[in-house]
Amino acid sequence: MSTQKINIGLFGFGPVGQGFYKLAGQRANNKINIIRIAVKDQKKERTLDRSAFTFDYRELLHAPDLELIVEATDDERAGYEIIKTALLKGIPVVSANKKLLANNLEEFVDLSIKTQTPLLYEAAAAGAIPIITSLDSYFNDEVVNAIRGIINGTTNYILSSMLQQGISFETALKNAQELGFAESDPKNDVDAYDAAFKLALLSVHAFGKILDVNDILRYGIRFIKKEDHQEAEALDKVIKLIAHVFPSGDGIEGLVLPTWLAKEDDFSSVSAEFNAIEILAKDSGAHLLKGKGAGSLPTGSALLNDVIKALSGGYTYKKLNKAQNPDGIEIEVILTLKNPSEINGLLEVQKQVEANGNIKITAWINTRDLKAQIGYLEENEAGLISTGRIRKVIKQSKSDKLSCTEKKIQNEVLN
Ligand SMILES: NC(=O)c1ccc[n+]([C@@H]2O[C@H](COP(=O)([O-])OP(=O)(O)OC[C@H]3O[C@@H](n4cnc5c(N)ncnc54)[C@H](OP(=O)(O)O)[C@@H]3O)[C@@H](O)[C@H]2O)c1
Repeated sequence: MSTQKINIGLFGFGPVGQGFYKLAGQRANNKINIIRIAVKDQKKERTLDRSAFTFDYRELLHAPDLELIVEATDDERAGYEIIKTALLKGIPVVSANKKLLANNLEEFVDLSIKTQTPLLYEAAAAGAIPIITSLDSYFNDEVVNAIRGIINGTTNYILSSMLQQGISFETALKNAQELGFAESDPKNDVDAYDAAFKLALLSVHAFGKILDVNDILRYGIRFIKKEDHQEAEALDKVIKLIAHVFPSGDGIEGLVLPTWLAKEDDFSSVSAEFNAIEILAKDSGAHLLKGKGAGSLPTGSALLNDVIKALSGGYTYKKLNKAQNPDGIEIEVILTLKNPSEINGLLEVQKQVEANGNIKITAWINTRDLKAQIGYLEENEAGLISTGRIRKVIKQSKSDKLSCTEKKIQNEVLN
């Protein structure tokens, strides 16, 4: 860092913007000058003098002395304009806005590379956990076989308190909202969209493939019952919302599902609002990072670390290439719903138990078939838990096809 101060425009002053502002004043060797803060609501009470703010983000975006942008809004439309304009002008950007980044990743990465302008988003992937920096620098030469993690603190808090206090999902959600661990509209967290956004950001740096958020197989925790926890416990297992991404054929398979874990699994003991991510690298093996995935100071700290990193350059994207459609894999799931016969593609249905008028089955299903029916399952408030068992579908060779009259699929059990 040179002796000169860097002029920063801060967009957003919610918990994340405020965390960044506070730490920028305490750390960074007094090298940061926040020229102004863009916010939206003119009537909101602020902790700083009104002169520190602008209510017109474009005014700050086009300020002549602007040298770096910290984007910490929750606004997809304004955020898109801010990031795109800044990159086109060659102004480095640091952002925490995971939804915006995940939904526009290909365009932003392309622009960042073409304009040679850093775009850093560690804070958006898993709060304070330095996972993207690790993947982009330390693991940029080694093949990564998979990334697995608990990357949403809200759902982890809810599942942990359901288990520990024996309470329902609804009560656990209400408690989490009162304690500030869940938003008043919890959809993004509870229905696993948030974890899917983060998984898309991780995929680029782990495998060099940009994963479309809509291609991720996602199912939330809204329909998990107390009885599901009891059943898992009787089998020495716990239920966690597990995000898992790995190469499959020429593509990438991304899953975010409530999943059974053995009690001795490292993730089983990750409780409350904590996040944990495992990098499974080809030569060096498994690495586990655990830390705070959200919150004002942890996320503000990640933004500040990125600001300092941006002064010396952006991500390398050394592995970057286009993702193809994955081959599809099969996973074993437990489904609880009124009429499982309406679900297409179930294989090896293992058991049927009546539970509260619903039917509970354990079966294998291709992830593509399951993805196509997620909307139906959500509408029908179906329970869906992965047992954690995954197997690859081995396609038939041409000669197999000629010699067999019946369609045959050979399966290789991966775990
Ligand atoms: N909270 C976390 O722990 C966490 C962790 C990782 C990532 N993130 C991400 O970081 C971002 C910020 O999170 P947060 O919790 O601080 O959000 P928040 O409480 O919703 O605050 C958003 C801020 O953005 C401002 N804003 C919204 N639209 C704007 C516009 N058009 N022009 C100027 N300012 C605008 C708001 O202004 P007003 O103050 O006027 O309303 C507010 O200050 C979000 O994208 C979130 O997903 C959050």
